[in-house]
Amino acid sequence: MGIQILIIDLGSQYTLVIGRTLRELGVRSIILSPQKASKWLENNKPLGVIFSGGNFSVYQGGAPSPPRKILEMQIPVLGICYGTQWIVQELGGEIRPIEGNREYGEAEMCLYDEPADPLLEGLPPKSTVWASHGDSIESLPPGFERIAYTLNVVAAGANNFSRIIAGIRNRRKKIWGFLFHPEVTQTTHGKEILQRFIFNACSCRRDWRPADVIADIQQEVGEAAKGKKAVIGFSGGVDSSELTKILAPVLGHRLQAVCIDTGALRKGEIAGIKRTAAAIPATLRIIRAAGRFQKALGNTTHSEAKRRRFKRQYTREMNRAIKDFNADFLIQGSLATDFIESGGVGKAATIKSHHNIGNKFCCEQLHPFRQLFKYEVRDLARESGLTEDVCSRQPFPGPALIVRVIGKPPRPDKLAIARWLDDQVSQILRKANELSKPSQIVVALDCTRTVGVKGDGRTYGYSAIVRAVLTADFMTAQGYQFPAEVRRQISSALTKHPKIVRVYFDETDKPPATTELE
Ligand code: XMP
Repeated sequence: MGIQILIIDLGSQYTLVIGRTLRELGVRSIILSPQKASKWLENNKPLGVIFSGGNFSVYQGGAPSPPRKILEMQIPVLGICYGTQWIVQELGGEIRPIEGNREYGEAEMCLYDEPADPLLEGLPPKSTVWASHGDSIESLPPGFERIAYTLNVVAAGANNFSRIIAGIRNRRKKIWGFLFHPEVTQTTHGKEILQRFIFNACSCRRDWRPADVIADIQQEVGEAAKGKKAVIGFSGGVDSSELTKILAPVLGHRLQAVCIDTGALRKGEIAGIKRTAAAIPATLRIIRAAGRFQKALGNTTHSEAKRRRFKRQYTREMNRAIKDFNADFLIQGSLATDFIESGGVGKAATIKSHHNIGNKFCCEQLHPFRQLFKYEVRDLARESGLTEDVCSRQPFPGPALIVRVIGKPPRPDKLAIARWLDDQVSQILRKANELSKPSQIVVALDCTRTVGVKGDGRTYGYSAIVRAVLTADFMTAQGYQFPAEVRRQISSALTKHPKIVRVYFDETDKPPATTELE
């Protein structure tokens, strides 16, 4: 089965979101760097190509360039943001810094009355789009026309707007370009635009089904690990559980699931992990490493330093497990978002050091879920018949409660408080039927000394922070508000701990906040 759409990654954080949106529409795609795309095109002809956004300006040295020949291949091309600017410059138009304010965030896209464009036909004359760029199109290349614009304030305080070109096309060559991001959910009609591009302009057919993806992964790993042994990192979350479920029948006794008990897991977690592995069924080894992690973490309180030290110890523990099992491969369930936020895609900035990406493991690594998003893995898990409890499990960071102890070293006594807080919140939310409404719930311990009144007098203690978010892909998220009665119950329960005098609720969106409180 051939890949229908080629997505060229020009460095945007959202490149993988384009692939995900196409899969949501039922079409598989491949995401490649410009260099890899050049090679791939020697033996493949996709039905259409999408150029992603990127954080360069086309006139900067080192700005990425998609293979030029794509523009001559007579296949539909869609440029997004930087991708569009590159097309314009390459074909003889001009790109300049925007006069006035850089466009960042939501903007209103307006359509020209005529001529109606096949990708925009039937959309309202004005709709919300999400844009992030400092360059605009000064002049169009020959054969191109404008199909949409946004308004930009050119003089502060004045009603002085200029029209910024937001969409262009070359009807004959079937090239489109937008300056906004149709792949992000904030662009209200973005998905429709992509849908029309792949089905109407490129004539793609639906070819993405969970059962096919499972079969592909089994084949890919089966071939790579023929006759060899592998260790798989197993946390009991949906990603590693589903990957183990997919691969256990392929590798049989040559696969060992390894769970590292860091001493920072939530209450009852090891028991849950054992149950999940038994149900798959998979051979599970649990490595008790709490003391070694404590030693590695030392007295640090800095979140990135904790992550780095955790990662080093995690690598040591995993390497030992690999050697003990004599494994040739380490298999991990890392997702597309994990790679994006660790800076592993294009030139996207590093947002945090992920505990299991970019490590120096002593054997080859396989990441069969590297192109998938959480909700897609949940689909695969349902297809594979994992219990709904595992399929819908909320994510939990690898460094676990260690990142949720703020302001003091994550010693066992602090981890115990964080664990107790987490368990209390879970119990209340379960009873109130609120546990599965948000996409993720985070309970953190803030060790800043703060004043309170307990018993007869003034006292000093710590604070609990309760955060919940709603999100589809964990790249962006909306703060979630629990009902007032539930919040009251939580504050009342958590302040019963002798060390806790205050409870905060954090409803900040991501960005600017992250999901985790570190
Ligand atoms: P942030 O805090 O960056 O987190 O918005 C996004 C998602 O990733 C989870 N997370 C991690 N998962 N290893 C993981 O496996 C990690 O080091 C890690 N750090 C954060 C976080 O819980 C959220 O779901």
